[in-house]
Amino acid sequence: MIPINAPQIGKEEIEAVVKVLKSGILTHGLGAGPMVTQFEENFANFMKAKHAIAMNTGTGALHSTLAAIGIKHGDEVILPSFTFVATAEAIVIAGAKPVFVDIDPETYNISPEKIEKAITKKTKAIMPVDLYGLPADMKPIREIADKHGLKIIEDAAQAHGASYKGKPPGAFADAACWSFYASKNMTTGEGGMVTTNDDEIAETLRYMRSHGEKEKYQSLMLGHNYHMPEMEAAIGYVQLKKLPKFVAQRRENARRLTEKLKKSKKLQLPKEPEGCRHSWYLYTVRMKNAQRKQRDKIVEELKQKGIGAIVCYMNPIHLMPYYRKLGKYRLPETEKAANQVFSLPVHPGVTKEQIDFIANTVLHLLS
Ligand SMILES: Cc1ncc(COP(=O)(O)O)c(C=O)c1O
Repeated sequence: MIPINAPQIGKEEIEAVVKVLKSGILTHGLGAGPMVTQFEENFANFMKAKHAIAMNTGTGALHSTLAAIGIKHGDEVILPSFTFVATAEAIVIAGAKPVFVDIDPETYNISPEKIEKAITKKTKAIMPVDLYGLPADMKPIREIADKHGLKIIEDAAQAHGASYKGKPPGAFADAACWSFYASKNMTTGEGGMVTTNDDEIAETLRYMRSHGEKEKYQSLMLGHNYHMPEMEAAIGYVQLKKLPKFVAQRRENARRLTEKLKKSKKLQLPKEPEGCRHSWYLYTVRMKNAQRKQRDKIVEELKQKGIGAIVCYMNPIHLMPYYRKLGKYRLPETEKAANQVFSLPVHPGVTKEQIDFIANTVLHLLS
């Protein structure tokens, strides 16, 4: 099976982990041991952000950032429903209400024009998601946020190596949250990071990830244990150096796949809008005019042929059993995309020959 994504781990990562194990320093009671500190510094530089604060998951990064900007019970936060559940989950854990807004049918990202209608007196923040590695349209979202006095937390969990108007994710937001889950463009196994240019948010996050402590046993605020272990940071430190090469390989695989798949009239291929650089976490196509079961059949057939196609996301969050209870939404573009999209492998471990095999198989199954 050609997996949809696969961690690209070499001897450098293994050596870095062994070094940490031999050092005897596996974590730090206040959240940042020597490896975590180095990883944070390099990640902040790479993302052109003033601060980077490591966490043990992307979900923890999202939750603590919401809390750090003051989101609390009774507040509303706007987000797309077409994303991984963690985006909404973090809002609920922070005590607020997720308010879902429909997507743009071409980019699958939150539609800026639809955000303004969803704003109420209770709205405190917007959480755009850089879905599949394509940055959300952040400039108009920033303008709306500024007009209404809202904060922006960008969910950049899938967008390592992407850029928008020449800048890394987070440049138009108050903070960006990242995941290093095993499938991501760079991984630490599990792990997360927040980047921000805001000193106050950064300081609060450093306390919050560590039980609200600045000094041991002196909690200043409600916190959590979101420490990134040293071994993970050691892997991340190496992976970050390899990220440009990983993304270049993804881009080349995506280009080759597009070149071949554009022969089919039945597919809407993924785009890279003007000013955006896609990180190709997922290469996602849409079966135009298809019913859900036709799409599911193709995905099943691809799997039988050894191609790890997947559907992200077959169930938009507003239709999941738990989230249905939080409000009723009509999101036609989200629901249509959920029925028609599927993703194909383009990760750095996929060879040219495999890309050709994937393309030929898709074209054959659709014909
Ligand atoms: C869009 C999005 N948001 C949030 C997360 C949560 O990250 P994590 O799995 O590291 O908690 C993920 C990844 O899994 C994701 O893809």
